[in-house]
Amino acid sequence: MPKWLENAVFYEIYPQSFYDTNGDGIGDLEGITRKLKFIKDLGCNALWINPCFDSPFRDAGYDVRDYKKVAPRYGTNDDLKRLFTEAHKEGIKVLLDLVPGHTSEEHPWFRESQKSEPNEYSNRYIWTDQWFKKAEGFGYVAGEAERESVYLINFFKCQPALNYGFFKVAEPWQLPTDHPECVATLEAMKDVMRFWLDAGCDGFRVDMAASLVKNDDEQKTGTSALWRNVRAMLDRDYPEAVLVAEWGHPDLSVPAGFHADFLLNGHGKGYRSLARNYTLDFRHTIVGEDRSFFKKDGKGDIMAFLDGYLKQYEICKENGGYIALISCNHDTIRPAFNLSPRELAVFYGFLFTMPGTPFLYYGDEIGMRYLNLPTKEGGYFRTGSRTPMQWKAGKNLGFSEAAAEQLYLPVDALPDAPTVEAQEKDPASLLNTVKALLKLRHENADLGARSNLEILYAKKEAFPLIYRRGSLIVAVNPAERPVSVDISPVYPAKNIYATGNCRFEKGLCKMEGQSFGVWKI
Ligand code: GLC
Ligand code: CA
Repeated sequence: MPKWLENAVFYEIYPQSFYDTNGDGIGDLEGITRKLKFIKDLGCNALWINPCFDSPFRDAGYDVRDYKKVAPRYGTNDDLKRLFTEAHKEGIKVLLDLVPGHTSEEHPWFRESQKSEPNEYSNRYIWTDQWFKKAEGFGYVAGEAERESVYLINFFKCQPALNYGFFKVAEPWQLPTDHPECVATLEAMKDVMRFWLDAGCDGFRVDMAASLVKNDDEQKTGTSALWRNVRAMLDRDYPEAVLVAEWGHPDLSVPAGFHADFLLNGHGKGYRSLARNYTLDFRHTIVGEDRSFFKKDGKGDIMAFLDGYLKQYEICKENGGYIALISCNHDTIRPAFNLSPRELAVFYGFLFTMPGTPFLYYGDEIGMRYLNLPTKEGGYFRTGSRTPMQWKAGKNLGFSEAAAEQLYLPVDALPDAPTVEAQEKDPASLLNTVKALLKLRHENADLGARSNLEILYAKKEAFPLIYRRGSLIVAVNPAERPVSVDISPVYPAKNIYATGNCRFEKGLCKMEGQSFGVWKI
C-alpha cells in the first residue's frame, strides 16, 4: 500500500470546466497547472482528472479514441507531463481516468474489429455469431458493421465493450477469460497504464471497474481475478501507484486489488442517504420530501448509511484498502443543490473526519450550484454539475477570456454566484471552512485514512452522530434542533474545532442545531 494514500485528500477536476488559458472557451491542462497553488492552499494533495484523452466526446471523453494521446483541446502529452512534474513539486499526486471497459466506436481497434476479414482485433470486442440476433441480457448494436454479427456495448451506443471474456460461457461466441485474445485485451490495457505511469502519473481512477468480465458471478470472481493481475504488476513495477475503483462495492473491489473504492449515489440508499435522499422529476426538481441526513429539517437517518458503511469498512480494514467518500462527482447532482452553505459545512465536517480517502469535487468548496441545463456531450442530468469553475466576479467568472457563447457550458448567471475570490476574503465562507477542516485533518494523524473508527453514538432517526478516531472525538449534529447525549465513560477534554455551539458539560455532549465539533481526549 503506497504510504502517500494514508494522508491523501483528492480534488476531482472535470478538465473541460476548470480553467481556460488560451481563450477557446474550454478548460485545459495548462489551466490545471496554473491552479495547482490554489489546490495546494485548499489542503488537497492529490488530483483525479476526468479523461483527457483523444475522443469524439460523445460521453465527455469516456469514449476514448486514443489512450496514449491527450485530446488536442486540452493540450499535448508534453503539457500533461509538465502537469505531473509541477504537481509533484507542490507535493500533489495525479490520478488519470482509465476507461478499460469500452472504447469509442472511432478507436482504431474497433475499426479493425468491424471488418469481416478476421484480424488481430476481431475478438478485441464482443461480437455475437449472427448478423441479427438479440444478445439477451446485454446492450448491443446491430446493423452498423460490415461484419455479420452484432456487438455488445458497455454504456452508450458509442461505447463498444472490450472483450475480457465471459466467466460463465453460455454461447459459442462467448470466449473464456483465459482465451489468448481476451488476455491480449488485458495486456493492451496494462500497456496503456504503463505508458502513463512511465510518463509520471501516480495511478488511475478506474471507470466502471466491475464491468469487464461478462456473465460474472455475484462475487465478481472473474473480474476480480483480472484486477489482481493488474495489481500484481503495480506492486512489482510501480509500488507507489494507486488504483481507485469506480465500483461502489469496497467489500469486493478492495479484495480484488484496488487501494480504494467509491461509495456512489446509484448503489442502494447508503451514500445517498447522507446528502441526496430525495426524488427528482424529469425537470430535475425535487418532488416530495428531502430526507437527507445533512438537511437541517432532521428527517434523515444515519443508520441508513452506517449499516452498510461499517460492514464495508471492516472488510476494507482486513484487506488493507480504503473507502472513498465523495462530496460529489461529475455524474452526481452537486450537494449545494439542496444543502445551504451551513448544511454543507456540517456535511464536509463529517466527510473530512471520516476514515478512508476523501474526494472533493471542484467547485464544491465554494458551494457551486447545480444548474438546470440541456445536455452536453452525453451529460443529460449530469450536465448541471459540470459547469465552469467560478474564480472571481466579472467576465465568465474568471474561467475564460472567450465570448460567453463560446464557453463549453455557461457559467452560473445569478448575481450571488459564489466565487473563490469573494470567499477567500470572508473568514466565515465555505471555502475557508473547507481549508480549516483539511488543515485539521492534516495536523492530526488520527484523522488520516487508516486510523481507527469507533461509533460512540448513532441511533435510528436520531441525532447527533458521535465517533472516535484514535484520540479524537467527533460530534455531528446536522439537525436544527439542539440535542444532548451521554457517551460515558468517554469524555473528551479539549475542543480543537467547532462550527456552531457544541460542548461537553457534566458528562453530556450538548450540541446546538447544525453544529460540528472535534475534541481531544
Ligand atoms: C462512469 C463515468 C461516467 C461515464 C460512464 C461510461 O460511470 O463516471 O461519466 O458516462 O462510466 O464510461
Ligand atoms: Ca482552452
